[in-house]
Amino acid sequence: MKLAVVGGGSTYTPELIDGFARLRDELPLSEIALVDPDERRLSLVGGMAARMLARAGHPATLTTTTSVEEGVAGAGAVLLQLRVGGQAARNVDETLPLECGCVGQETTGAGGLAKALRTVPVVLDIAEKARALAPGAWIVDFTNPVGIVTKALLDAGHRAIGLCNVAIGFQRRFAATLGVSPERVRLGHVGLNHLTWERAVYLDGEDVLPALLAGHADEIAADVGLPAWVLRRLGSVPSYYLRYFYEHDAVVDEQRAGPSRAAEVAAMESALLDLYADPSVDTKPALLEQRGGAFYSEAAVALIASLVGDRGDTQVVNTRNNGTLPFLDDDAVIEVPAAVGADGAVPLPVGPVEPLYRGLIAHVSAYESLALEAALHGGEERVRDALLAHPLIGQAAPADGLAARLVEANRDFLPWA
Ligand code: G6P
Ligand code: MN
Ligand code: MN
Repeated sequence: MKLAVVGGGSTYTPELIDGFARLRDELPLSEIALVDPDERRLSLVGGMAARMLARAGHPATLTTTTSVEEGVAGAGAVLLQLRVGGQAARNVDETLPLECGCVGQETTGAGGLAKALRTVPVVLDIAEKARALAPGAWIVDFTNPVGIVTKALLDAGHRAIGLCNVAIGFQRRFAATLGVSPERVRLGHVGLNHLTWERAVYLDGEDVLPALLAGHADEIAADVGLPAWVLRRLGSVPSYYLRYFYEHDAVVDEQRAGPSRAAEVAAMESALLDLYADPSVDTKPALLEQRGGAFYSEAAVALIASLVGDRGDTQVVNTRNNGTLPFLDDDAVIEVPAAVGADGAVPLPVGPVEPLYRGLIAHVSAYESLALEAALHGGEERVRDALLAHPLIGQAAPADGLAARLVEANRDFLPWA
């Protein structure tokens, strides 16, 4: 099978290639096509990827192209991992909201909205090309904000599933603490992309979360950047993205005092590209571990293998709600464990969601639908609507101020501005 990776010039790609090489029996690939508009990155990352495959003795051909059409043609799966505007645009997402007292984050709050505005039109255009040139191919979306982008793809009738590494990260982390292999651990994971809680941790089917919290709440709380009492009181483990909600004002203060994540990542990217340029380097560099994407290759391999191999196993994905969370629209996109097979992902039933989570999930889901409206149809008014609906903005003055600023700062990327 041919796999196309759009945004293949990402410095993350060697992480993916490492997974494809290690897990080749699970997902046999005959061609990996890296697609990217940046020729320099394509040649550096492509060279590195080819050396890694050669070192592993992987039979797949590695091709690189700046043409989406050429890259996706004949693919059985298309993986989207692009970043419109690169780290420079991300830096704006992370800093501009601070001017109005709101958190600066690339997927949460106003920054996530700006990213959605830039990204949705580009992704939909790529998906149309895939529909024409790779009929039947699955689109696996890693491109943030994953919930909104996945909804855009599904609403347009594409065969798409959204994926994030937060759940697999927790699975691996809890397995390590328990001293067991990750396959034995399943998560009671519920919410929206980057707005999730682990309400249960099943070891061989038995919920061990109470024991995990009794013994390890302090370490786990430190990992997710929250006070341990929150985890103990909730009896669940919020993802580290909940820090932007539960510690909003403290995060704003921190962000005002320090460099943006985009600036840190840009420095890492340039060091990574130097490594990729070195013909003697043919294994995944340790520096890549400082990025947030740990285990994303494992998650991608498992998902694609189940889609093309009709395995019917359970994986945490972003897909249509369809009544799973009865307080959300059926067409909302949620992030929950689902059975994954040739027909896609079907969410497993989820027990009643407590008010403490339910309100925030419903609030952000409503924001996401307005954010998608703004991304599809444009207009500063729609941008302001989405900001007013977001629990982390929600007031007239910042909604108005940020709408104008976001549109201005992203003008070059907005077809309608
Ligand atoms: C996690 C999230 C991804 C996000 C990444 C950012 O992996 O799940 O959605 O893109 O962190 O990592 P970075 O190293 O770019 O800050
Ligand atoms: Mn993610
Ligand atoms: Mn314009």
